[in-house]
Amino acid sequence: MNHTERPYVLLKAALSLDGFLDDCSQERLVFSNTEDAEAVDVLRASCDAILVGAGTMRADNPRLRIRSEKLRADYELRTKTSNPLRVTVTKTGEFRDGLAFFENDNGESKKEPLPLVFCPAGLESGVRSKLSAKAEVLALPERDEVCIEFVLKTLKARGIERLIVEGGAALHSAFLSSSFVDEIRLAYAPIVLGERGGTTFRSFRGALKGLVLISVEKLDTMSVLKFSSKRSGCK
Ligand SMILES: NC(=O)c1ccc[n+]([C@@H]2O[C@H](COP(=O)([O-])OP(=O)(O)OC[C@H]3O[C@@H](n4cnc5c(N)ncnc54)[C@H](OP(=O)(O)O)[C@@H]3O)[C@@H](O)[C@H]2O)c1
Repeated sequence: MNHTERPYVLLKAALSLDGFLDDCSQERLVFSNTEDAEAVDVLRASCDAILVGAGTMRADNPRLRIRSEKLRADYELRTKTSNPLRVTVTKTGEFRDGLAFFENDNGESKKEPLPLVFCPAGLESGVRSKLSAKAEVLALPERDEVCIEFVLKTLKARGIERLIVEGGAALHSAFLSSSFVDEIRLAYAPIVLGERGGTTFRSFRGALKGLVLISVEKLDTMSVLKFSSKRSGCK
């Protein structure tokens, strides 16, 4: 896929020092400290859309909104919407009720774009009726696979220029196996999970080889590494 046919893709993850994306408990593990959360907020506010996998929605129920009122106000001035478009991919369409991803945000829903759900062809009418009017559901060309290329091309055609991929492990790994990542932000928290470690990146085919380290930053207790693709540079 030509570079101009897709959005600029930033992949963001928070990890323990031993490389885990989560521990093995049922509760959500928060790696971020205040400074890191603020930096992530700025990053989100620089994007037109946020992509998460259905697994993360089920496990963590993330809000995926800009937290700072000031950033949100600036974002609204610039884009006429209060938050980036929320996008997810699913092969099953299994979403429980009440997920923040689909909910109206304190009455601001009128300014928010309708979330987007990509699912394999054949599932879309079932997913659509389950979600009623809370999301736009788009069918993928393949019956069983979620084709990242199709997702990216569709987003680009809808005016999405910058996309942030926020996880989880399977989706991160799928992107890292592709050649569609322009920038990676890895935030390491000063914890070692060891045997309590849960999920981490699955094996992928070494897309990181094409990336160069562009910065190492200390955010209070966290270390943030940024990598960029040599081909695209950073935006
Ligand atoms: N530390 C971090 O930065 C961070 C960030 C986010 C999440 N997490 C953690 O990651 C875990 C969730 O990760 P996960 O791997 O279970 O779920 P995930 O990557 O969030 O979502 C995977 C699901 O997405 C759907 N999917 C569709 N096409 C896909 C494709 N091409 N590649 C991958 N997934 C595709 C499938 O949904 P269906 O099952 O519906 O078919 C698949 O099961 C949680 O423990 C969460 O806490 C950590």
